[in-house]
Order: sequence, then structure tokens, then C-alpha cells
Amino acid sequence: MTKLVSIRGAITAHNSKDGIRQAAVRLLGRLYFKNGITDDNVVNITFTVTEDLTAFSPARAVREAGHNVPLMSCAEPSIDGSVKGCIRVMVTANSDNDAKPVYLNGARALRTDLTSVYAIALDGPSGAGKSTVAKAVASKLKITYLDTGALYRALGLKCLTDGVNTADGKAVEKCLTDANVTIEYKDGVQCVILDGADVSGKIRTPEVSMAASAVSAVPYVRQKLLGIQRDIASSSSVILDGRDIGTVVLPCAEFKFFLTASAKIRAKRRYDELTAKGQKVSYDDVYKDVVTRDKNDSTRAVAPLKRAYDAIEINSDNLTAEQVAAVITDCVTEDLA
Ligand code: DC
Repeated sequence: MTKLVSIRGAITAHNSKDGIRQAAVRLLGRLYFKNGITDDNVVNITFTVTEDLTAFSPARAVREAGHNVPLMSCAEPSIDGSVKGCIRVMVTANSDNDAKPVYLNGARALRTDLTSVYAIALDGPSGAGKSTVAKAVASKLKITYLDTGALYRALGLKCLTDGVNTADGKAVEKCLTDANVTIEYKDGVQCVILDGADVSGKIRTPEVSMAASAVSAVPYVRQKLLGIQRDIASSSSVILDGRDIGTVVLPCAEFKFFLTASAKIRAKRRYDELTAKGQKVSYDDVYKDVVTRDKNDSTRAVAPLKRAYDAIEINSDNLTAEQVAAVITDCVTEDLA
């Protein structure tokens, strides 16, 4: 039911025109996004700024950024020990949900009562290096890593084992109705448990890759795996890698990245990975698989591979996995500072 809510938020900024402009627009963008509102829901917005922020007005900044709602900014009295360089906001809006406050950068210190659990969505096509990057980020930030592709792979494996035609959505649904897939972490390493058995060692073959891509287009499969992914993300800070994390699974993720690379480079990396594991494959076959999976994953009707509008795109053609991980961790730590 729609009700009137007051949503609070704050961010710290440099005292420059650009500093205040960027901070105010970002704060409002994040607050709108997290609360699922737009200007159409908003009754009015009041900003306050600490006395040291004199270079520009946050209300003017968001007006110039195109927000067409009643706005005002006022100066706060200076209070000993308060956070310096701080923009606060109160948004009054009509919403179906309870208010979700947004405190960014140094302003997080104002609300230590708010949970510091956050989620990083890392989407992109197969072979872009998502899992290597996500593992490195998780280890640097000491957060949980969830490789969501492993869930689809486990269900693809079940269909293959049962001899089900993975192109037949109804047959896939029938085969997977009673399938139980869960994630366990053993010594910090993710294991996929299918009907009580750890199948982590069986899901990385080219056959399972194609089966996973096919079953991932079946709406029943996506629905079945949605709850598992969201449960893991709600209990601790996480990085999830997949295709639809920023768009469908966690549209409110605090951080979103979209990792790309050309098909040739992705195929070369996959080929090296498979041959290093002793699998006998040809580069041409791996390349064909990459192109086919790209097509399947991005043209399917439900939750296709797509960059979320607010995701930061990183092309890894000329970057190592460590360099990409550094870009992501820098971005997150700067924001959480
Ligand atoms: O990331 P991966 O290659 O392990 O994923 C296997 C397949 O599962 C991939 O072709 C697409 C699908 N998938 C998906 O549709 N959504 C996800 N979040 C993760 C994977």
C-alpha cells in the first residue's frame, strides 16, 4: 500500500563546485535506486550542508541534473565533533516500501546502527574472467564469493545425467522439480551440492557449460535459483558473479560492475584454462562455444545477459585479473571509507 515516507541520507564532499555537484547527484541517485522511487513519487527534497561546504548548492546541483521536484538547501549550524564536509538530505515521497536510508563515504560514520552488509554484482559474458576477479576481490575485502554459474551448471549436469533434452523447457522443469541444489563453503572454498552429493568437480566440462547455458533460459530454473542467491547475499557482504545479478537478482546491490572482453580473448583464456587442467579441446571448438553461449545468454527471454544501467563497465582485453580486481576493490573501499 502506498504511504508517505521520509527517507534520510548523507554523503561527504569536497568543497568545490564539482565535488558538491557530484556528491549531491550521486546521493540522490543511490537513494532513489535503493528505495525504488523516481521524481514522480517525490513530494519534496531538503538538503542541509555543513558550514564548510560553501562552493555550491546541492539543490541547484540536482536541479541542473534534471530533477524537477520542490527542492531547497540550507546551512546547518556548526556543532563540535560533527562530520565535516557533509551533505544531508531528507526526501519525502510516496512509496510502497519502508524508507531505506543511504549513507555514503565518510557520512556512514553518522549511522553506525545501519548494517554494513553490502553486495557487489559482477556480471558479464562467459570467459571474461569474472570468477578469477571475484575470488581476488572477495579475498582482499574478506567477503563471501558466490559463483552463481555453478548453480546453473549443477542443474545442467543433472539434466545431462538423466538424459534430458536441455532444449525442451518442459522436460527440464520436470527433471529439476525435485532437484535440491545448495552451496556450502569448505575451508572458504565454494562447493555445489546436488541432491546431497558434492558435484563441484564435475561441472566444468564443455558439455556441462552448454547444458547450463540451455537450462538457464528456462524460467522455472531461474526462479528456483533466485531465492538461494538472495539468501546468501542477505546474510553477509558478498560478491556474486553471473549474468543477471545487477539487473534481476540484486537490483539494489551497492556496487555493480559489468566485465567484458572480446570473444577471441575470452576463448583463448578458456582454452588455456581447460588445457591446463588436462582437458583435450581445440581452440576453434572453444571459440565456437563462447560465441554460441554469448548468443544463448544474451538473447534468452528471461533475465538475459545485460549490463545494468548503473553498472560500471570494465573491458579486460588489456587488463590482468589482478588489475581488474584492483579497480573494483579501490572503488568499493573508497566508497566505504
Ligand atoms: O558463468 P558460467 O560460465 O559458470 O555460467 C554457466 C551458464 O549459466 C552460462 O552459460 C549462463 C548461465 N548463468 C546465468 O544464466 N545466470 C547467472 N547468474 C550465472 C550463469
